[in-house]
Amino acid sequence: MEWIDTHCHLDEESFTQDCHDTIQRAVDAGVTRMLTIGTTLDSCRRALELAQTYGSVFAVVGLHPNYIQAAQPGDWERIVELSTAPKVVGLGETGLDKYWDHSPIELQTEYFDRHLELSRKLDLPFVVHCREAEVETVALLRRHFVQGPLRGVMHAFCGSADTAAACLEMGMYLSFGGMVTFKRNEELRQVSLAVPLDRLLVETDAPYLSPTPFRGKRNEPAHVRLTAACLAETRGVSKEVVAAATTENAQRLFRLA
Ligand code: NI
Repeated sequence: MEWIDTHCHLDEESFTQDCHDTIQRAVDAGVTRMLTIGTTLDSCRRALELAQTYGSVFAVVGLHPNYIQAAQPGDWERIVELSTAPKVVGLGETGLDKYWDHSPIELQTEYFDRHLELSRKLDLPFVVHCREAEVETVALLRRHFVQGPLRGVMHAFCGSADTAAACLEMGMYLSFGGMVTFKRNEELRQVSLAVPLDRLLVETDAPYLSPTPFRGKRNEPAHVRLTAACLAETRGVSKEVVAAATTENAQRLFRLA
């Protein structure tokens, strides 16, 4: 069996000591490819470096909604330049976050628009972060959907059935992380059932959101199997079915070789 972790942050400080071993553990566990997601310009540069060092690592570049307040003039232009580098397979993460509320919502919206416009221009998929902003996120996506189907993914999806349906209708993929394995999240598992197998992705969001039984500990790409196993159990299908489908979906969406 083979898995692709479509969302992790290998450039985070908690991996500085053992990034190499972490990637090796993932590959040994069948996680043949992982997408490391940039959150600031510096983080995107580190993500790209990792992608250029490891065959199994790919980079996604963008400015995270929680960090755009701190972005410097010219940072966005550098992101645009990085987006055409080899092994950059997507844009983000972008989106709206009303939970942390680190950046004014107007600024978050402006950058979300920029990422989606660039996505269409370069035909690169985008990665959406949405926290306590489902209505606003769907509304913004709908404005872009007017120009045609959206090539993107809702990362670490934890929204309602309505939001899931709206995103699927616009052509998007839904990616599930460790949260879906938490005992109390039965509702989210039910939502995952409504996602067609050909739109389903898995991720870790490592070092965050460790799946059961590692909850509270540092997460890593090798653990993506546990989330995939939970989705398989929920659907009543074998792990092989979910592994094959999610791998194929990730390859299709991000055009991974
Ligand atoms: Ni993330």
